[in-house]
Amino acid sequence: MKTLYLPASDPNTCDAAAKILREGGLVAIPTETVYGLGANGLDPEAVAKIFVAKGRPNDNPLILHVADPIQMEDFAYDIPAAAYLLAEKFWPGPLTMILPAKPIVPKSTTGGLKTVGIRCPDNDTTREIIRLAGVPVAAPSANLSKKPSTVTAQHVLHDHDGKIDAVVDGGHCRVGVESTIVDLTERPPRLLRPGGITPEQIFEVLGELTVDKSVTQELDPDEIAKAPGMKYIHYTPQADVVIISGDREQAADYINHFFEPGDRVMCFEEELELYRNCAPLAYGREADPESLSAGLFDALRELDDPAIKRIFARCPEGGGIAYAVQNRLKKAAGFHIIRVGGAK
Ligand code: TXA
Ligand code: MG
Repeated sequence: MKTLYLPASDPNTCDAAAKILREGGLVAIPTETVYGLGANGLDPEAVAKIFVAKGRPNDNPLILHVADPIQMEDFAYDIPAAAYLLAEKFWPGPLTMILPAKPIVPKSTTGGLKTVGIRCPDNDTTREIIRLAGVPVAAPSANLSKKPSTVTAQHVLHDHDGKIDAVVDGGHCRVGVESTIVDLTERPPRLLRPGGITPEQIFEVLGELTVDKSVTQELDPDEIAKAPGMKYIHYTPQADVVIISGDREQAADYINHFFEPGDRVMCFEEELELYRNCAPLAYGREADPESLSAGLFDALRELDDPAIKRIFARCPEGGGIAYAVQNRLKKAAGFHIIRVGGAK
């Protein structure tokens, strides 16, 4: 199959993408977080193609993307007041809400769960495509399963050229990490995945929020993940990733000491000079955590190279968007973290 390349700037793109979706095809769509691999979320056959293209386990549910916040009522029931408050404040935006699913949502989309994840993305082109398609769009991150997410159309083509119907090029994704997932079927609501909307922002609106264990720790093999995707290996380049946390100079001493040929260093721009002998790649500025979230997956994908054996990674501390960056890096590292020196 030839994968159509549809630039967001082309006036025919939205119609063309919507038509493919209505006909049961796969279209990669830009969002403010990462690119999604979209299909008609109400059509089990179309949804099945997503799982095949990604190599994704069938029990890992998909997020339904809607053009307009009020459409959550079409696909979910028993919607609590908290969901309306969050939708009002953060949609369109990088927030996914888990709600009880109406029967119209097929089991293939929900991975067999009784709940559905719903999100209204903050991307005008993609919302127009969904509106024209007239159906909600089920879309996981467009990367091949286990691999770092795709934040450009070129990343999508690298993983899927010739295997999906089209990619809509909307440029580099602004946030760079996936949406925040909040389960609203529980009281207090539970954070299942940190992302573009910070836990602090949600707490400010709801006054309550619990953080699921899988956000900060590796689950035991027999534990059931609240977000099924959290139990799978994620975001991993081929090399072993090791996070070296702690004081800047002491981390640099440690890495420079243990660095071997075939290793790489993923660090902050402010640290480049400290790693001049260690093939450093900076993914953003420590002083600007949003640049780290925007650059994270570019770096992890660039370092996804069989010639690289080990990646020493520097990880930001603290809350806000840095919290989401920590979560993705810890998962990429399989929670392999070495703490050096004293507190920062
Ligand atoms: O930013 C995003 O959320 C991107 C863009 C494309 O919108 N999408 C995305 O989808 O990250 P995906 O499939 O890569 O990650 C969705 C996560 C998975 O861990 C999945 O298990 C979880 O959400 N999830 C989906 N539906 C769920 C549900 N009903 N209950 C619990 N977890 C759910
Ligand atoms: Mg994903």
